[in-house]
Amino acid sequence: MLTASITLDPAFRVAPVSRRTFGSFVEHLGRCVYTGIYEPGHPAADADGFRTDVLDLVRELGVSVVRYPGGNFVSGYRWEDGIGPRESRPRRLDLAWHSTETNQFGLDEFARWTARAGVEPMMAVNLGTRGIQEALDVLEYANHRGGTAWSDRRIANGTPEPHGIRMWCLGNEMDGPWQIGHKTPREYGRLAAETGRAMRMIQPDLELVACGSSHLGMPTFGEWEATVLEETYDVVDYVSLHAYYEERDGDLPSFLASAVDMDRFIDAVVAAADHVRSRLRSSKRMMLSFDEWNVWYQSGEGSRPPSGDDWPVAPPLLEDRYNVADAVVVGNLLISLLRHSDRVTTACQAQLVNVIAPIMTEPGGRAWRQTSFHPFALTSRIASGEVLRVEPAGPVQDTARFGPVPVVDAVATHDAEAGTTAVFAVNRSTGQRVELDIDARALGAGRVARCLTVADDDPRAVNTPDDPDRVVPYPNPDATVDGARVRVVLPPVSWTVIELTAA
Ligand code: AHR
Repeated sequence: MLTASITLDPAFRVAPVSRRTFGSFVEHLGRCVYTGIYEPGHPAADADGFRTDVLDLVRELGVSVVRYPGGNFVSGYRWEDGIGPRESRPRRLDLAWHSTETNQFGLDEFARWTARAGVEPMMAVNLGTRGIQEALDVLEYANHRGGTAWSDRRIANGTPEPHGIRMWCLGNEMDGPWQIGHKTPREYGRLAAETGRAMRMIQPDLELVACGSSHLGMPTFGEWEATVLEETYDVVDYVSLHAYYEERDGDLPSFLASAVDMDRFIDAVVAAADHVRSRLRSSKRMMLSFDEWNVWYQSGEGSRPPSGDDWPVAPPLLEDRYNVADAVVVGNLLISLLRHSDRVTTACQAQLVNVIAPIMTEPGGRAWRQTSFHPFALTSRIASGEVLRVEPAGPVQDTARFGPVPVVDAVATHDAEAGTTAVFAVNRSTGQRVELDIDARALGAGRVARCLTVADDDPRAVNTPDDPDRVVPYPNPDATVDGARVRVVLPPVSWTVIELTAA
């Protein structure tokens, strides 16, 4: 067995836990909306057609904020198609996912759904095929109290109170050549700045997100951030990051170290933003919105949109099945996000239901939890107070993609008011157990309130509708306390949370 150690100390404070770290994403893509969160006629649907079995799972997952309606979809979307009487809403071609959009679910339904789920809505505007005017129109419709053409349309459509949406993304992945209306950094930066400025004339206290690079490997990465932020620095509050990870060519050790890539990506964007800040002599600190992240098998068959003459309605797309290793990576990516809580204050796992998602549904049938549901739900539920940085001392393993990486990665949170401390840890070894020694003397922690682990003898084990609890967190039997020293054994390819309370 390998050994590793960490020291917990309130002096290693990073920042308060931001609830918005536990965000998610609903795009008009595949079955995320239709037969995902919305399915009139389903036995569990409420009067609005929202699936209550899915709503229950969303609440259990502990999601805080939900981004909508895309994604690539938003770059061709006419938001006003999705308001008013359903029978007169147009059907449209969705070019991003080669599907037919029926518009039976739109902005008002989304706002109502978020209220029912107890989550904050976060909207994206179309800066692909559209511009400043349409962004102003949708903002006026959503947030203005009344007495104008758009706000009165909302009232006439049955929502007298404004939706009060604070966070708005200025487009989506505009650096990507796959994006409808793809732009150069200067073109996008100018448009985003002008759109944001105009939106603030309606509502000054909006929180605006400028598109950063769609991933670290983009050829324009760096130059994109520098130019876009030069144009938008005084207008926006956040720059976005997107990243997806997958196991390639059976290289499990590299895949398990995906959080190393996320750490590097965040550090690089922070450096780029701070460089612009010092050049502009600004006192403002740019925050990061990691508003798309997850495991996604992009090379898989299921990731190819339909083609040809067939434009299906809500086809099953991107319906990845997640195994134990995927869940461990998801848990590790959350560790990376928490570790950067001083700069990453919003993050959205992409996506929420059916599409590369922790929650799956059958049309007309069951809803169930994927393996990746569990580390997300437990981190969201247990992380509270302040994030504490920890530096695991211990073994290192070689990876083909990232070179030598620590076998154990971890972060902690400490809630002085509640008297609780939590350690979130992964063992990235594929074959060795690790005894983790936690020195909690600076906190005087006395008792293990709970210690839960996600692991399995078979790291490829998955949950299915017929066996939805094949992989669930189990109480780790190997957690012991001796004074303020805690020891826990982490199985190979595992994610664990240890919650400590005063004795
Ligand atoms: O989440 C799936 C897609 O990934 C989104 O539509 C897009 O923004 C990203 O490339």
